[in-house]
Amino acid sequence: MSDKLIIFDTTLRDGEQSPGASMTKDEKLRIARQLERLRVDVIEAGFAASSNGDFEAVKAIADHIKESTVCSLARANDRDIARAAEALKGAARARIHTFIATSELHMEKKLRMTREQVFEQAKLAVRFARNQCDDVEFSPEDGYRSDPEFLARVLEAVIAEGARTINIPDTVGYAVPELFGAFIRDLRQRVPNSDQAVWSVHCHNDLGMAVANSLAGVTIGGARQVECTINGLGERAGNCSLEEVVMAVRTRRDYFGLDVGIDASQIVPASRMVSQTTGFVVQPNKAVVGANAFAHASGIHQDGVLKARDTYEIMRAEDVGWSANKIVLGKLSGRNAFKQRLQELGIEMESEGEINAAFARFKDLADRKAEIFDEDIIALVGDESVTAEQEHYRLLALSQHSETGERPHARVAFAAGAQELRAESDGNGPVDASLKAIESQVKSGAELMLYSVNAITSGSTESQGEVTVRLQLGGRVVNGVGADPDIVIASAKAYLSALNKLHSQTDRVAAQG
Ligand code: KIV
Ligand code: ZN
Repeated sequence: MSDKLIIFDTTLRDGEQSPGASMTKDEKLRIARQLERLRVDVIEAGFAASSNGDFEAVKAIADHIKESTVCSLARANDRDIARAAEALKGAARARIHTFIATSELHMEKKLRMTREQVFEQAKLAVRFARNQCDDVEFSPEDGYRSDPEFLARVLEAVIAEGARTINIPDTVGYAVPELFGAFIRDLRQRVPNSDQAVWSVHCHNDLGMAVANSLAGVTIGGARQVECTINGLGERAGNCSLEEVVMAVRTRRDYFGLDVGIDASQIVPASRMVSQTTGFVVQPNKAVVGANAFAHASGIHQDGVLKARDTYEIMRAEDVGWSANKIVLGKLSGRNAFKQRLQELGIEMESEGEINAAFARFKDLADRKAEIFDEDIIALVGDESVTAEQEHYRLLALSQHSETGERPHARVAFAAGAQELRAESDGNGPVDASLKAIESQVKSGAELMLYSVNAITSGSTESQGEVTVRLQLGGRVVNGVGADPDIVIASAKAYLSALNKLHSQTDRVAAQG
């Protein structure tokens, strides 16, 4: 059996299914480039048939990414599979990932299909997919809650049709490690041609065991591919977290005996990029990528680490891409220094015009903030990645007044397409007043579900504030992110960014459901 563990990243597909995490094509491409730098083996770029937007995103990623395999999800029908194949045409290495549910519950209640119908459809789908693409993966959705005998029959048939990877999902996060590992092992034993495919696991985190279950699938079950997402992003409690699986396997190589091809120094940059793009903040005590993951607060620990690092540290922060906040640039830095720093951060810009626009924003920021850190540049470029057509609303000016004993008041000017709108309002605080002023003109009627503010770089009140605003309207949930040294301005930017997402209607078909 191979001693390489294949890392299949589904941040851009399953991760994106998380309410509010939907990304634009440009945002997805930027993350895909970072995943390529991270050297993930497979990037699941989206679900091409779910919407035109997703089709275009998968296509753009397939056209640009050269090192990683690019994959599209497809339901087990000819239309979805043909759409996936079409989107993947330009890929150096392409994979079609087709799936159909196999648990009694899903077949009866969701698909309203009999076992025989599901069996036939799975076979035909893999046959059709193999005609379009050499590399085909098959997933029995809700596989862990399926009857093992029936499941084994389906899997034997799809392997015979040419599926190269068999991925077993714990779709609802119901598994526990020992049982899940044994389930995969027993399934492989039941399927006569199991050695003709790579076995993979795909675990959700509803009981907080997605990483443990995935690793048990590897050690007990013999799986050699793990499906995971950056920061564990995903619907409900999320998916198995890439950084945790990768660092577990690397740090405990003595136990797992497996190699991963990941460049771990790109983990923290990838985590930041995903969090800044989606507005899903990483909890401070999150393993590997949380702000406190390498912070030793207790005196005993600090003393130990100073004497000998490995007294309390099992990984080195710099190995996973944590660098001490570096002052990289300032007010006097020129365009060349800025451009070079972008390159060092792995940020690619399509044109000189884009670099000029980002540089103008940088200068504007440097006028207001003496020290510019890597994190500031990443946030600034995140703002920049919004194209004119996605940016219907844009903040032009904001002033606010707050004083002890007075009700705060804000005045806001913003662009709505070609129009310039002005509004003012009172509020409980200056943020509330600013958002109310904007809403008084836009009249979106959206419900504010979340407002959060974080310092982009820790340890200083000079840091930029990064604000996330989550809005819900008519069943759609969107996140907007805004950054600025002034948190009221950051809040207005975040609110307008969320309104832009609501404005750009993109309806998609859900992968599950
Ligand atoms: O969780 C799941 O079952 C999935 C499949 C579509 C692979 O995401
Ligand atoms: Zn899933």
